[in-house]
Amino acid sequence: MNLDDVRSDLSQILYTEAQIQARVEELAAQVDEDYAGRDPLLVGILNGAVMMMADLSRALTIHCEMDWMAISSYGSGIASSGVVRILKDMNVSVVDRHVLIVEDIVDTGLTLSYLIENLRSRNPASIEVCAGFRKPEAARNHVHVKYLGFDIPSDFVVGYGLDYAGRYRNLKGLGVLSPSVYS
Ligand code: IMP
Repeated sequence: MNLDDVRSDLSQILYTEAQIQARVEELAAQVDEDYAGRDPLLVGILNGAVMMMADLSRALTIHCEMDWMAISSYGSGIASSGVVRILKDMNVSVVDRHVLIVEDIVDTGLTLSYLIENLRSRNPASIEVCAGFRKPEAARNHVHVKYLGFDIPSDFVVGYGLDYAGRYRNLKGLGVLSPSVYS
C-alpha cells in the first residue's frame, strides 16, 4: 500500500519508503561492523517489527539468527494501557547470545524496559535495541536505543509495520494518522 492510497487518512507524511530504506541500510552497516564475527540473535517484536526485521536483516552482510516475541502493551486503541504481557515467547535460548531487539517504535519505552529486564534475566552475552522510530516520551524512561531510525513527534503514526486497529501495517511509508480516523 502506497502513501497515496490512504493520503486522506493522513494529516502528514513523515517518511517515504525510500527514506526509510536508506536509513535502515545505514543501521545495518553499523550492525555489520559492531557484530562482525558474533552472529547476533535478532529478536523481533511482533507484529510491528516485521517490516523493520525483514529490511534490516536482509541488509546485513553478516550471519544472524532471527526469533520473535509478541508482547501486548496497547489494545486496539491509540493510548498505552501501561500493561505489558508476553503473548508469545522466543523459541531459541538467549543464553550467551548477542541479542539485538528489533522494535518498530519506542513511545513511552514501557514495552522495551520490560522486555530488556526480562531478557537480561536469561543471561545473554549482550542486549542492544534497534528501533525504527522513537517518540519524545521515550527519553523520560531512559531506554537506550543503540540503533535508531528516526526521532519523530509524539503524534500517532501508522505505516511500516505500525497499525491503527489492525490496519495500515502494510503501508510503505510512515504518516501521522488524521484524528478524524479515530475520533
Ligand atoms: P511503548 O511501550 O509506549 O513504548 O509502546 C510501544 C508499542 O506501542 C509499539 O511497539 C507499538 O506497537 C505501539 N505504538 C506506540 N506508538 C505508536 C504509534 O504512533 N502508532 C502505532 N503503534 C504505536
